[in-house]
Amino acid sequence: MTAEPELAAMTSGHVDAVMAIDSRVYARPWTRSMWIKEIEDVDRSHLVALDELEVVGHAGSMYALDEVHLTTVAVLPQRQGEGIASSLVLALLDEAVRAGSSSATLEVRAADRRTQRLYSRFGFSPAGVRRGYYTTPTDDGIIMWLDDLQSPELARRLDEIRSQIPGFAGPTTQQGILGIETSCDETAAAVVRGGREVRSSVVSSQIEIHARFGGVVPEVASRAHVESILPVVGAALTEAGVDGEDVDAVAATHGPGLVGALLVGVSAAKAMSLVWEVPFIGINHLEAHLYAAFLEEPDLEMPLVVLLVSGGHTMLILMEGDLRYRVLGSTLDDAAGEAFDKVARHIGLGYPGGPIIDKLSAKGDRDAIRFPRAMMSDGWDFSFSGVKTSVVNHLRHNPDTPIEDLAASFQEAVADVLVTKARRAAREHGAKGLCLAGGVAANARLRQCVIEACEADGLRAFLPSREMCTDNAAMVAAVAWHRLRADGPSPLDLGADPSLRLPAL
Ligand code: KG4
Ligand code: ZN
Repeated sequence: MTAEPELAAMTSGHVDAVMAIDSRVYARPWTRSMWIKEIEDVDRSHLVALDELEVVGHAGSMYALDEVHLTTVAVLPQRQGEGIASSLVLALLDEAVRAGSSSATLEVRAADRRTQRLYSRFGFSPAGVRRGYYTTPTDDGIIMWLDDLQSPELARRLDEIRSQIPGFAGPTTQQGILGIETSCDETAAAVVRGGREVRSSVVSSQIEIHARFGGVVPEVASRAHVESILPVVGAALTEAGVDGEDVDAVAATHGPGLVGALLVGVSAAKAMSLVWEVPFIGINHLEAHLYAAFLEEPDLEMPLVVLLVSGGHTMLILMEGDLRYRVLGSTLDDAAGEAFDKVARHIGLGYPGGPIIDKLSAKGDRDAIRFPRAMMSDGWDFSFSGVKTSVVNHLRHNPDTPIEDLAASFQEAVADVLVTKARRAAREHGAKGLCLAGGVAANARLRQCVIEACEADGLRAFLPSREMCTDNAAMVAAVAWHRLRADGPSPLDLGADPSLRLPAL
């Protein structure tokens, strides 16, 4: 992140940037000539919040006799929730106290309860309603008053708020982003503060429901998500000790995944964002998996090679910086996890196959059978359908093969191809480390191979915990924090996209 924003008096050089912010947050922004008059008028005071010369917010007041009227406060949508508005209001009130004003007033949209709460913290209380004050006749304005600007109580209150805003990104002003994940067979919700601090993470798995069908049944998954989504979100909020309306934003995975399942999370997140008046952010599930490692290892050095191996995807990714990455290669047929699941099903082991094969392999001989390693030395892409067929054929021709040896040898072939390629990619691209992401990253042998490869090549190995590897919502809320800052909120008409791709460079 960049340095904390600073406050400065607004000048004509800031007008364009201020108007750009207003066009995004106000229905009726002021015109340029109004702004020029505002800046010149001695009874007006306007401040801007600057982040390395970029205007990220502004606020202003008007003095009349012994009263000060706060006329405008606006913050760039993607920077809301950082305490910028509080800092601006605090500065304006400090100034009014110094100027000898005795009371302060302002008007705020009746529907904008979030901003009203902000003013209440400063001691403002509602004094009346102005019908149809804003754009539509039903859009009432609430007038709020703050008396006794010169009282010691107010001085204490302002000092207390000041102490809670060390710069702008003070933790007390941020409650965290609520993340929701429903792309496949896990209903999950989490609250994460500042893209790092996991305040809660709740995962409700449907594995038992799907196990009797030998795989995820999309319609069954959607129904199960509908049933669990509200209890899971409720549990995540309770565990974090946060009221829904106090979260900074609501984020949900909107792809890739099963369209019906994705829609449950996306619709719920949009509804909550409307009711609580907080931004909604649609998140790419694959990008979320990439960020899982950062939740546990905040100081990951880049460039970094990431093996994203899940039930639906197998990708070799070069991460060059925050939200900057290139997909070097991906699977041409089955995903790594899919290969585990299919092999397990063919040899009658149950679902999901990954954990079962992982466990059996611990008791088997991984050198018992040499299964093919497809495309091991050419290019960056993968293919796992050949090894899957070989396992099934081997068992057909050698029915007495111990199942543990079969599992261990299959697992070895998959891990060998994955790690050999990742290691070569790290060497060719000068990466500092190797990182695992996605459900298959929970595999014990794959983890061991990555550790051994990193030791041999002088690389750092980043292995997220098993809970972070498999689908969860903490990773969704974490990446949402970065996306909100980079791109701002998503539009409310954003749909579920079952085949969403990584927004690579
Ligand atoms: O990332 P994930 O939870 O869901 C998707 O986005 O796909 O990954 C699920 C996949 C399944 O294919 C599952 O068999 C596999 O990850 N998996 C494993 C292990 N644990 C889960 N594969 C190998 N070894 C494991 N221990
Ligand atoms: Zn996943």
